[in-house]
Amino acid sequence: MQNNLRPESMARINNFELANAFIEEQIAVIREQVGEKKVLLALSGGVDSSVVAALLVKAIGKQLVCVHVNHGLMRKDESENVVKIFKDELDANLIYVDATDRFLDLLAGVSDPESKRKIIGKEFINVFADEARKLEGISYLAQGTIYPDILESIKQAEGKKAVKSHHNVGGLPEDLQFVLVEPIKLLYKDEVRVVGEALGLPHAMVYRQPFPGPGLGVRCLGAITRNRLNALREADAILREEFDINGLAEKVWQYFVVIPDIKSVGVKDDSRYDGWPAIIRAVNTVDAMTASIEEIPYAVLHKITSRITNEVDGINRVLYDLTPKPSGTIEWE
Ligand code: XMP
Repeated sequence: MQNNLRPESMARINNFELANAFIEEQIAVIREQVGEKKVLLALSGGVDSSVVAALLVKAIGKQLVCVHVNHGLMRKDESENVVKIFKDELDANLIYVDATDRFLDLLAGVSDPESKRKIIGKEFINVFADEARKLEGISYLAQGTIYPDILESIKQAEGKKAVKSHHNVGGLPEDLQFVLVEPIKLLYKDEVRVVGEALGLPHAMVYRQPFPGPGLGVRCLGAITRNRLNALREADAILREEFDINGLAEKVWQYFVVIPDIKSVGVKDDSRYDGWPAIIRAVNTVDAMTASIEEIPYAVLHKITSRITNEVDGINRVLYDLTPKPSGTIEWE
């Protein structure tokens, strides 16, 4: 663990000059570590794995093989953007796996939140391992481990509790053995973002709000159906668009839509219209352990309500969740 510790002399990377120096240094370190060998990376589209991907593309180009698994629970346009940025713009070696059917078939009829999480986590490893086995001559696995992950592991080890596995692709089968490449493991999140922008990644990707690994699976409550998942994806896209337009995206830490598995009676075009409610959640927090509710201007809430109920099939009401954490958690599950 010792050489995983950040040297006290290491300056906080808070400007492009320091970020560029870090990038140059890491490029040399990565080239030295991997030589001519190939490196595999599970690219989720989150900040950390995206920054690692951009750094590795710069250091070793086509020796990097990125695998993006779309589990069908991504937000609107998210997987398309990963492909656009990394494959089309950065010319990365990217394997895109649309595993939507694999995931949604396994999840059909499963309503218990923990069971859903386990299915998604396990299948993610299965899909990734299937892709890894098809590839030959890969010796290294790159990961977006960051410094708080290391600190938490150390803290938990000292406290003699089970050490939490922070690996992005934890639990890979034993027949897949890789040496790890973790170029941002000494950086804090704010530093990762500065490095990401210095690498030329889009602002929206670098400042992307946190998104749980199981994705929309924890926001489409109860047993997931494709119809309700589509409604959730569309409603969430409207919420994000309106937050952007109204300058709220910079002020609110996390905001999203949840759709429970209930319907209520509504009315549309003078006829009865049974639909799901869309629940808006918008919270501010420092460490996600507690969270407060952001005051959203009424006019914005009205606009979002009107757009969601008019534009999204199947939704007839919009609710705003006023519950802080505690007593609620941030996600509904
Ligand atoms: P809760 O719901 O526990 O969420 O208040 C706290 C924060 O963690 C995020 N979250 C996850 N992040 N993998 C992640 O990377 C997960 O499985 C996961 N589950 C929750 C959640 O979005 C919130 O920011």
